Amino acid sequence: GKVRAPTHIISTISDDRGTFNQTVGEEPCYAGVPMSSIVEQGYGVGDVISLLWFKRSLPRYCTKFIEICIMLCADHGPCVSGAHNTIVTARAGKDLVSSLVSGLLTIGPRFGGAIDDAARYFKDAYDRGLTPYEFVESMKKKGIRVPGIGHRIKRGDNRDKRVELLQEFARTNFPSVKYMEYAVQVETYTLTKANNLVMNVDGAIGSLFLDLLAGSGMFTKPEIDEIVEIGYLNGLFVLARSIGLIGHTFDQKRLKQPLYRHPWEDVLYTK
Ligand code: ACO
Ligand code: LMR
Repeated sequence: GKVRAPTHIISTISDDRGTFNQTVGEEPCYAGVPMSSIVEQGYGVGDVISLLWFKRSLPRYCTKFIEICIMLCADHGPCVSGAHNTIVTARAGKDLVSSLVSGLLTIGPRFGGAIDDAARYFKDAYDRGLTPYEFVESMKKKGIRVPGIGHRIKRGDNRDKRVELLQEFARTNFPSVKYMEYAVQVETYTLTKANNLVMNVDGAIGSLFLDLLAGSGMFTKPEIDEIVEIGYLNGLFVLARSIGLIGHTFDQKRLKQPLYRHPWEDVLYTK
């Protein structure tokens, strides 16, 4: 019989050799779905993410939620870590890719990259039946800041509109928002400690994606655990913010901004 030569690469999400289509010939596929279906059936970027990241077509409310996350996280002005790095890099005369990655490199546990950890910690605490008090105080004992909680600018009396919009969408469209409600209870408790300890956009996406995974009926429990363990969700912020960072690069180039140098007056020189 035939002997299959061992391959150096295994890939399961897309196939550029595609399926044979009578009219167009070879057609590339995303998770088995040919390009023509993607176009003809009016798929959006949320559907493409479902196919390439989760290897399945998700219901419309899920793909819409993914698209809302991307739209709301696309940019947050020039002052945040990512945009600042991108602006400085573009002004140093670097190219688009360098300016983009310079901004992306700031995404991490403090800025935009707390979504996976928020999902991990909220899931663990909820599944173990910890009260918000027990959860927050146990984190404090371990010296770990609660991922998804806290913001430099947003306050209890000046909430993050993005968080409200995501929660509103989920309350109307998701079959269950139990993880989100748990995160809200955590926020209610942290706000008793300090006014800046609001739920941030990472916490909203992290908790709501748990609800999406658990409530859609499209994922088995081991699959959900794997998604949370591998950490797919920071990808949403990376993807979204790339849109804004590319915009900031073009903006600086269009404005012909000179090399950036930080003012001496804004540095405390000390021994
Ligand atoms: N959990 C518990 N306590 C906290 C938290 C938190 N998430 N955030 C701040 N605090 C408390 C701590 O007591 C902290 O003191 P410490 O430095 O001894 O730990 C005190 O508040 C003051 O903290 P600051 O450093 O002044 O807060 P800052 O405004 O600099 O931090 C930040 C904002 C980085 C977002 C912080 O709240 C944090 O680390 N949050 C968790 C990570 C996170 O969710 N990041 C995503 C933010 S949203 C985004 O980037 C799109
Ligand atoms: C962002 O989306 O970049 C932020 O929430 C961070 C910030 O400080 O505004």
